[in-house]
Amino acid sequence: MSTTYTLDTATSRAHPVPEPVRRLTVPAIAARKAAGVTAEPVVMLTAYTARMAQLLDPHCDMLLVGDSLGQVIYGLDTTVKVTLEMMIAHGAAVVRGSYRSVVVVDLPFGTYEASPEQAFATAARVLRETGAAAVKMEGGEVLAQTVAFLVARGIPVVGHVGLTPQAVNALGGYGARGRSEAEAAKILGDARAIAAAGAFALVVEGVVEPLAREIQAAVPCPVIGIGASAACDGQVLVIDDMLGMFERVPRFVRRFDDLAGRISDAAARYAEAVRARSFPGDAETYRPKP
Ligand code: KIV
Repeated sequence: MSTTYTLDTATSRAHPVPEPVRRLTVPAIAARKAAGVTAEPVVMLTAYTARMAQLLDPHCDMLLVGDSLGQVIYGLDTTVKVTLEMMIAHGAAVVRGSYRSVVVVDLPFGTYEASPEQAFATAARVLRETGAAAVKMEGGEVLAQTVAFLVARGIPVVGHVGLTPQAVNALGGYGARGRSEAEAAKILGDARAIAAAGAFALVVEGVVEPLAREIQAAVPCPVIGIGASAACDGQVLVIDDMLGMFERVPRFVRRFDDLAGRISDAAARYAEAVRARSFPGDAETYRPKP
């Protein structure tokens, strides 16, 4: 049975002290896939806060501090408006709340695309200020030189191809990718280029199953799918989507809970208790010591 750890905020250490204390490593994740086969699928979820990281960490191999936090936490309409400061604050919180998973932080739009040097400066700041193990960048062939530049300088990179939400303005929406032969060939080329540049894992988002299958077979690193079928080496979902926090979710999401409903019920019961003056009760009230 897995243990849920709590964070001792005085020391930023987990309680009870986890055994083994060491985190999974980037090479260990990369090594999950050998000769094209991944015996143990890579389990990844997004996390944005220390407490959520504590709860997810015992069950995951990787925690992704996704720029989806723009929509999920900040109520933004796209990830394009997410800032580096947001990513660093939430990345550091997730590292503090986890002990086992490899923590990966998304580089936000506009902080890495201009040049390899810009990407290196951003990624180095992210790793230094959060303690995360790796960064994730959206983009295909055009980004391969940047990925190679970072990897050669000791920065582990997760690639992200297919549906790339930071490019929503160029793509015109969030529909599944790779339906035409030309688009599928382009995405397969992107995946090959990013893997050849040294990415240790590749997120493939929103692509049709035959393309996901081709990508999985074509690249040596684990392919982590989101809306990319079961043909991948692992899966990732946005935590709030899979917990049922939103009424509308993409078709590929499975809701493993109805947290929105349960929160709403709890808030209604609280409001009722306050209005009926039945909260706080005796057990929740401080009395002078006798
Ligand atoms: O930002 C994010 O949460 C992501 C996942 C959708 C993979 O990039």
